[in-house]
Amino acid sequence: MTTERFVIEGGCRLQGRVAVSGSKNATVAAMAATLLVPEDCCLENVPDIGDVTFMAQVMESLGARVDRPGPSTLHLNAEKVTSCSPATELVVNLRASFQVMGPLLARFGKAACNQPGGDVIGQRPIDVHLAGFAAMGAEISREDGMYLAQAKELRGARIFMDYPSVLGTQNLMMAATLAKGTTTIINAAAEPEIVGLAEMLNRMGARVHGAGSHTLEIEGVDSLHGTTHRILPDRLEAGTFAIAAAITGGDIYVAGANCHHLCSLIAKLDEVGVAVEEREDGLRVAGGDRLRAVTIQAVPYPGLATDLQAPMAALLTQAEGVSYVHERVFDNRLLYVGELRKLGAEVISTGTTAIISGPSPLVGTSVRALDVRAGAALVLAGLVARGRTEIFDVYHLNRGYQRIDEKLRALGASIRRA
Ligand code: EPU
Repeated sequence: MTTERFVIEGGCRLQGRVAVSGSKNATVAAMAATLLVPEDCCLENVPDIGDVTFMAQVMESLGARVDRPGPSTLHLNAEKVTSCSPATELVVNLRASFQVMGPLLARFGKAACNQPGGDVIGQRPIDVHLAGFAAMGAEISREDGMYLAQAKELRGARIFMDYPSVLGTQNLMMAATLAKGTTTIINAAAEPEIVGLAEMLNRMGARVHGAGSHTLEIEGVDSLHGTTHRILPDRLEAGTFAIAAAITGGDIYVAGANCHHLCSLIAKLDEVGVAVEEREDGLRVAGGDRLRAVTIQAVPYPGLATDLQAPMAALLTQAEGVSYVHERVFDNRLLYVGELRKLGAEVISTGTTAIISGPSPLVGTSVRALDVRAGAALVLAGLVARGRTEIFDVYHLNRGYQRIDEKLRALGASIRRA
């Protein structure tokens, strides 16, 4: 447990406008993609968060250059890659670091990486990544705890993914861009971050078709070139602010949110009794007087994002009736339930389902952010808890949310870092 904490005095209705930052998960994928070329790449709308800093260190451990010339711009250059294996101490902290495997294998014919770490939310195997590389002709071995993939030349293949893994799809997509022939990925993930990466790769000269559907076709090309790419808005940050409006009975305009990426959340907020107005460049969310219990299921996109499951559970502690929260993506993403209980929520979990009886008056106390989204759920709960809530281990929130405390304060919340 680290001592840095958020101190929240609950009870403020949030009002005003908040601007969404660039997507965390789209940024780390785009950073890995720059390994495909020996030329300059520029990423715009990059969030200033811990995971981007970690990923920059991963890139530097490979010999790539990473500069931040402005607050939301990153310049990357992977001309002089000196290693095909990112530093282990970084990999164990950031699951996304495994995404360097695909581009390194495609460009240099070899890549090695430890089992990646990251949030404790389930078993998180990497079998679909490895099976895909093998299908493209790579030889996979395990040495000293490292996964090693080698191939003189990757060749196009038909790959069936056992599970539509997001990082798995991105890894295979990047590897296939430089393979000989065409690769078809069946049962691919369809998240907006996949579409964002496909757009970037195509701008680099790749031929990726079908992104956003469950079948991707990638025609291999001989070489790619550098590009400038704008990161899409963070739908998970936008969703978190939408829920903040709902839980505090406030009225927030989430500027820059892409409503198309948030369909499932908007549908559920509507069912709960929260008014959502979709606009061209954002969404306005106004909390109602009476919230209704609902059933939610966290599933792959376009279903409700697993990353919004815990924030939604916080909201449902304030809804009238019994809500069921089913987590269908990860096998251990309900650990926050114990922390919500400390605040007085009537919630129990059994397996991958949480059952919430509401509304429960929450009362501030000390709790721990167990991962980035569990931490967000506690911030949301703290906003409505009576008295003072102290949230420890805020480094998890720093990893995924750009200065969430400042953004909430600007909306009228009483939250400070201590
Ligand atoms: N899975 C396998 N085999 C694999 C890979 C995954 O069985 O080879 C299973 C996992 O065990 C899990 C499910 O597939 O049960 C989903 O995992 P997925 O691979 O899709 O997740 P991920 O790619 O590791 C990304 C995001 C997560 C987000 C998930 C699901 C990044 C850096 N991370 O993880 O984001 O929850 O997709 O949408 O893109 C977060 O932002 O807080 C976060 C954890």
